[in-house]
Amino acid sequence: MTGGDEGKPTWNFSAGPCILPRPVLDCCARDMIDYKGTGQSVMEMSHRKPEYTDILKMTKEEVRRFLEVPDDYTVMLNQGGASNIYTAVVKNLIGLKPARKAMYMTTGLWSGQCIDEARKFIEPANLIEVTNLSRNGFTQLTDPKTWLIDPEASYLHMCGNETVHGFEITEDNFPWDIFPEDMVIVSDMSSNIGTRKINWKRFSCVYAGAQKNMGPAGANVVILKKSLLGKAQRDTPFLCDWTMFEAAPQAQLNTPPCWSIYVMGLNVSYMNQNGGLPTYDAKAEKLSSMIYDVIDQSGGYYVAKVDKKMRSRINIVFRICHSPAFEQRLIVNAQYRKIINIRGHIANPGFRVSIYNAMPEAGVVALCEYLRDF
Ligand SMILES: Cc1ncc(COP(=O)(O)O)c(C=O)c1O
Repeated sequence: MTGGDEGKPTWNFSAGPCILPRPVLDCCARDMIDYKGTGQSVMEMSHRKPEYTDILKMTKEEVRRFLEVPDDYTVMLNQGGASNIYTAVVKNLIGLKPARKAMYMTTGLWSGQCIDEARKFIEPANLIEVTNLSRNGFTQLTDPKTWLIDPEASYLHMCGNETVHGFEITEDNFPWDIFPEDMVIVSDMSSNIGTRKINWKRFSCVYAGAQKNMGPAGANVVILKKSLLGKAQRDTPFLCDWTMFEAAPQAQLNTPPCWSIYVMGLNVSYMNQNGGLPTYDAKAEKLSSMIYDVIDQSGGYYVAKVDKKMRSRINIVFRICHSPAFEQRLIVNAQYRKIINIRGHIANPGFRVSIYNAMPEAGVVALCEYLRDF
């Protein structure tokens, strides 16, 4: 929610950066000028001084608590968004097995971007694309019997939630058992992190750009099984080397995005105080169902193409059947109800409604009323 005139809130369904809770923004505004009487803004502090290293420690602890991260995993907070992690994954993990192969699932725009980056570093014969859903428009899983699975691969990379295509992989809708039990699984959870429990028995590495659910843009979060540290390639770019980051004083190799990490700490702490992950899991279920119900009960007027069992609870993607002109009108008129940022991504036109954790139920009620009235 963002401030609006005449006391009416603006409902911001942006796909990212996400909205943040008002109490968190109020706290940021206060600390912007003078953090706890230190006479400095968090933005002006040395990242090596206790005032800031305490903030870093607090943020990591809140993230660990929120996502129930086990002790044998490390939480890393650095710069570069999720995109920087694509390279880091290859360089830190490809050497886990002697064959130096990797498996990638292409389930939408973001995992497609990730495999494109991996192609720069991995020999074509060693890069196994398990499946590519582009032929069905990223709307359903292909038949697992057709998938290419190589037990010699060092890791399997997937995107937990495709932000552009509204396609989400969960515990229940994916054939986990067809992969070797000891396969290192890496998931880009940029847009669904903090919205459902993570099965840490399954994932060795989870990463995200911070700006959807965790905090503002500027930082990324990598949660990695500690036993996988120390395997980086010799030519790993300095800012991608997880082992070097972890070995640096306070795990800070270069200047971190101090303000972003601070706001992330406040936001995740706020979510912990408001019931933690179970609250936000239930909220994602409830709010997404409200919107999908409107779509499904519209008699075919609104159409969501993604297979029901793969539907994202965070990025809801739909169209008005056969009518780009009506879609345009719906987007333009939405602003009169103070509903903004519902246009789909250029690669997947129509609507995309993103309901990150800070979205109040009232915002979704307002959206559903508007969709029904239109
Ligand atoms: C699932 C997913 N992965 C990766 C990215 C790229 O993230 P960043 O902009 O933080 O580099 C995004 C951005 O929206 C995303 O949604």
